[in-house]
Order: sequence, then structure tokens, then C-alpha cells
Amino acid sequence: MSEDRDSQLDGRSKFYIPPHSDGSEQAYLCGHSLGLQPRSARAYIEAELEDWAELGVEGHFRARSPWMPYHRLLTDQVARLVGAKPSEVVVMNSLTVNLHLMMVSFYRPTKSRHKIVVEGGAFPSDQYAVKSQIKFHGFDPAESLIELRPREGEDLLREEDVCELIRREGESIALVLMGGVNYSTGQAFDMKSITAAGHERGCVVAFDLAHAAGNLVLQLHEWDVDWAAWCSYKYLNAGPGAIAGCFVHERHGANSELPRFAGWWGHDEATRFQMGPEFQPMRGADGWQLSNPSIFSMAPLRASLELFDGAGMPSLREKSEELTALMESELKRRAQGKFTIVTPKEKHRRGAQLSIRVGAGRKRLVDQLAAEGVICDWREPDVIRAAPVPLYNCFEDVERFVETFCNLV
Ligand SMILES: Cc1ncc(COP(=O)(O)O)c(C=O)c1O
Repeated sequence: MSEDRDSQLDGRSKFYIPPHSDGSEQAYLCGHSLGLQPRSARAYIEAELEDWAELGVEGHFRARSPWMPYHRLLTDQVARLVGAKPSEVVVMNSLTVNLHLMMVSFYRPTKSRHKIVVEGGAFPSDQYAVKSQIKFHGFDPAESLIELRPREGEDLLREEDVCELIRREGESIALVLMGGVNYSTGQAFDMKSITAAGHERGCVVAFDLAHAAGNLVLQLHEWDVDWAAWCSYKYLNAGPGAIAGCFVHERHGANSELPRFAGWWGHDEATRFQMGPEFQPMRGADGWQLSNPSIFSMAPLRASLELFDGAGMPSLREKSEELTALMESELKRRAQGKFTIVTPKEKHRRGAQLSIRVGAGRKRLVDQLAAEGVICDWREPDVIRAAPVPLYNCFEDVERFVETFCNLV
């Protein structure tokens, strides 16, 4: 069954699996941090290098994939990946930049409604971004930032507590900005319910999908999410610092009056090159673009998205659930009592990652695992994160991780 599914999805052979020092393949379980390189990425980049060499500026129109509309080659695939309409997504910039650009439009605090809700343990960049936005508008994070914390003695947020807080404080909340999957615990949030709870109280609801895009089956349009942003270098395998993605629900994308920071690439395509002084935004998420995007950054994303399209997110997710469940059950069977798994055990409450609490000061375990060709990472103060990624990890990777980990722990 497992082998069947592996060969059916057959993603592994399409990636470079980093070699161990003896030349054998490593068990790479770090796709939650940096995804692997699709073998086809090089050809996509080389095509652009060749066209640049051959055509110079003419490549904007005459390249095999003309650069002017290049980002549109990604639109349909990105839309399928996050459950959006094509007009609701755009690839541009990087994640923190996009979080800021979105907050420029969607965090418009007033005296009575100025708070932002985030997870207490949100990724630092998100915390810096929201605090700086709050201060930028003349408010004080001590009063305007609500950080959700798990109950005493618990590691995970309870959705009912999140929704209850939103209901209680809703009148003063301008923006709810949560991770789709928490980077540290691996907890996946019920984005539909959180969005509905926020909307009931008139809040904007948004998600940082850094750890959810390419990991979970997403339905951003249907869930009615206001906006979302994600990076493309984790589960989306587009390479270090790759171009990021953004979702803006169509009801906002159609509103040309929304305040935003503007640049020429967000200007109406039909008149962009008339170089007029007045900004007229494009409809949809495209209207938030600032600069002409990096072709060399989009090329590897194109390679990766083709693999996602080939496998299909629902099938990948099914394999992902099996891989993660196997990792969890084998860990428990082999070494119960020597660690705690922080990540939720219900499959709908987690993605591809397990966060394993091994105790403070045990960071060396990650190096010991690496010495055995098993790659995962450490999050202070006491957690090892391991992510079996369905596109290129196989059941043997999971078994190898468990075996090595249990011998060391
Ligand atoms: C949840 C989350 N948000 C934000 C960031 C920052 O991303 P970037 O450096 O691409 O802006 C990361 C990076 O790993 C992340 O995991």
C-alpha cells in the first residue's frame, strides 16, 4: 500500500535529495524550513538565462515565456493550491514584505477598533511586523496587540478559546492574523471557523500560510478569508528566499478605493506604459504588485508548481497524513516516555510536521541525527521538528528517522 502510493505520486525522483557524506541519500525531513530542489528547476532557470543572452530587453515580449506576463504562468496553479480564484492570487516580493503591504490596506485602526490578534508564539517576523504596524499608526502594542496563549499547562491553542476571545473582544479588534499552521508546534488552525468568528464581529481575518501552503488542502475563497500571504521556499520548493504569494479575497480586489502602497506593476496593464502620473490599480490581487517581479525567482516556482499539479494536493495530503501518522505511531511504539509530541494527534489539526519535545539543552541530537544522514531541525528551547513531505519523502525516510532518533534519545 505504502509503496504503491509512493510510486503513484512518484515525486521523489523529481527532486535532488541531498547526499550524505558517504554519497547515499539523506532522510531529508526539513521541508518545513527549506524545500528541496526540483530537478526541473535548472532547465526553467537556464531557459531564461538563454533568452536573456539571446534577446536582451526583447525577452520581455519574445522570450519563449515572455517576461512581461510571466507571473501569469503561475496564477492558475497557485490559485488551485490555495483554493482561490485566479484573480485572487499573485506572486510577488517575499513574505514579510507582503504581510506589511497587506496590513497597509487591511489594518486601518481607529480609536475604538485598533487591536491585532496573533498567536502568542507567532513567528518573530510576524510579531515584529504587527508591532511595527501598530506603532506606525500611533498605537501601543501593550494595548493593541492580543497574543493568544494556550491554557495553563497546555501547549496548543484551543480553537474554542480563539473564537471565544474574538467574540469577547471583537468590537476592538481590527485584524486577526494567525498562522495557518504554527511554525513551532505544527498545529493547524480551523481557518474557516476563525474567519467566521472574526467576521461576525466585524474584524478582518488573515492568515500567514508559510507553513500551510503546499502542506494543507486550502479553500481560502470558500472560507471567506480576507487576505493571506505565504513564502514559497518551504513546502513549495522554489528555493531559498523565493518569490512569495498573496491572496486577496475578490470582494477587496474589486475595490479600487482601498488605500494601498502603489507601484507601477500594480497599475492597470492597459495603460501602464503610458507612464501617466495617476495610479489606477489592476483588479484583484495583481493590483498590490509594486515592482516587475524577478523572473529567475519565478522560474523554479514554476517547476515546483507543475509537480503539485501533477500529484494533486488532495492525494499529497492523503499521503502526508499517512507519513505523519506512521512517524507518530512508530515513535510511540519504540520510545514512549522519552519525549512528548507537541503537535496535535488529530490529523485535521496538523500538517506534515511533528514537533517532538526532547528536553532543554538537547540540541546536539539534531547534529547527531545529521551525522547519521537524518536531517531535521531544532527550535528553542526543547523541540525537534521533523516534516515528512509527501512530494519527496517516502515511508523509508520515516522509518530511518524513527530508528536513528530512538537509538539516540
Ligand atoms: C510563519 C513565518 N512567517 C514569516 C516568516 C518570514 O519569512 P520571510 O523571511 O520570507 O519574510 C517565516 C520564515 O520562515 C515563517 O515561518
